[in-house]
Amino acid sequence: DWTMAGFRAEAVERIRAQVGSGRVVCGLSGGVDSSVAAVLLHEAIGDQLTCIFVDHGLLRAGEAEEVDRTFRDRFNIRLVHRDASDVFLKALAGTTDPERKRKTIGSLFIDVFEEEQAKIGGADFLAQGTLYPDVIESVSFAGGPSVTIKSHHNVGGLPERMRMRLVEPLRELFKDEVRALGRELGLPEAIVGRHPFPGPGLAIRILGEVTRESCDILRKADRIYLEEIRAAGLYDAIWQAFAVLLPVRSVGVMGDGRTYDQVCALRAVTSTDGMTADVYPFDMGFLTRVSNRIVNEVRGINRVTYDITSKPPGTIEWE
Ligand code: XMP
Repeated sequence: DWTMAGFRAEAVERIRAQVGSGRVVCGLSGGVDSSVAAVLLHEAIGDQLTCIFVDHGLLRAGEAEEVDRTFRDRFNIRLVHRDASDVFLKALAGTTDPERKRKTIGSLFIDVFEEEQAKIGGADFLAQGTLYPDVIESVSFAGGPSVTIKSHHNVGGLPERMRMRLVEPLRELFKDEVRALGRELGLPEAIVGRHPFPGPGLAIRILGEVTRESCDILRKADRIYLEEIRAAGLYDAIWQAFAVLLPVRSVGVMGDGRTYDQVCALRAVTSTDGMTADVYPFDMGFLTRVSNRIVNEVRGINRVTYDITSKPPGTIEWE
């Protein structure tokens, strides 16, 4: 009989057999897959594992701190947390094209990851939270090994120059099984049940140029939105929900004064795989509550809209 406890024990044995006394690095993003992979690997090989968390400064409010708390403090995993927000924001300065943003972030991510890996003296293996659906989609280059590249997807996609052997302990699992394994391993529900979050993070939710200031403004609005979604008990009914900062100013009135600030769009969709999506039908009372809070609490935003476009023809993200 197949059980998650049985899978866990077998996976631990398989990792030990593959890795021996080798050293393993694992890129941690705060998402479900890499989190579960890291905790499973740690159970198998303890301090032979080092996790590298490249913090590009484009995460949601509180998420970088949560990575430290969970992996370093609670699971005692060796964790390198590199705050590289300056480097990423500098590289993004002046960039408004969405694909350009993705490329800049993706290649910088690899550079910083390699830098940190060199600092810890290198490793024999690279661990990845590749899932079964990623394996099916993987591209097999003629004459070469089968390499998994979620092309516009994972920022952690590997360049060929990083020739390390791969450890992929989740290769046989689907997403819901990874979540079940995460629970089995004692990962907090906040991580295991988390909505998908794109590798380039807030950079593709700030339309136009990304600055530290725009990141801070968006983080505040996004936090309020997610807080209200959780408080209303709607988080698990939604596939993804997030705020988007538009490069548009509109006139408003606050007290005796006129404001001329940015517009924020809210998005929430239901989906089963992200390929198609429907708009989540919030009631108007919920939306006006969130809107009031954002406009009152976030300086720099004076108007809120709700995106009612399904996918297709829209995409889930705005960029
Ligand atoms: P779209 O916007 O194409 O998004 O409807 C479908 C799903 O993919 C996610 N997404 C990304 N994930 N890097 C990622 O890791 C990206 O560049 C990226 N772009 C979109 C999006 O959040 C949704 O879950």
